[in-house]
Amino acid sequence: MKIVSHSVQETYDIAQKIAADLKGGEVILLSGDLGAGKTTFTKGLALALGIQDTVTSPTFTFMKSYEGRLTLYHFDMYRAENEDELYELGLADYLDMDGVCVIEWNKFQNIKNPIVINIKAMDENSREIEIL
Ligand SMILES: Nc1ncnc2c1ncn2[C@@H]1O[C@H](COP(=O)(O)OP(=O)(O)O)[C@@H](O)[C@H]1O
Ligand SMILES: [Mg+2]
Repeated sequence: MKIVSHSVQETYDIAQKIAADLKGGEVILLSGDLGAGKTTFTKGLALALGIQDTVTSPTFTFMKSYEGRLTLYHFDMYRAENEDELYELGLADYLDMDGVCVIEWNKFQNIKNPIVINIKAMDENSREIEIL
């Protein structure tokens, strides 16, 4: 399924529709270039899950968690060397938890049945969001 978002608010609305179906245990892989809107999409998911805290990129820690209707584990693996580093930090354990993992720049090799979402910038405010 492909949808075009014309604003941050529309991206939040699309994320909200995805969030409504989440039961816990899902892993969402967000792909797309820098500035495509992966973190923005994650903010929309967080809002829809009733998370009050502001979602900010977990650049140096690789993961930040937020409590809501479901716990959100937000990963950004851009600066991770490789999968081993993530395992050493114990981050793979979160994949098996009851919350929802949202991963930017994924480096884990074996994720079972992820929800894959590709975001592509079309112009300044338009984004093509493809849900696989
Ligand atoms: N329709 C849209 N959906 C999402 N972000 C948008 C949209 N239009 C403009 N933007 C802007 O694009 C940028 C996306 O940044 P961010 O979400 O941090 O990207 P990424 O995490 O993919 O690097 C933000 O500055 C946001 O305001
Ligand atoms: Mg980001």
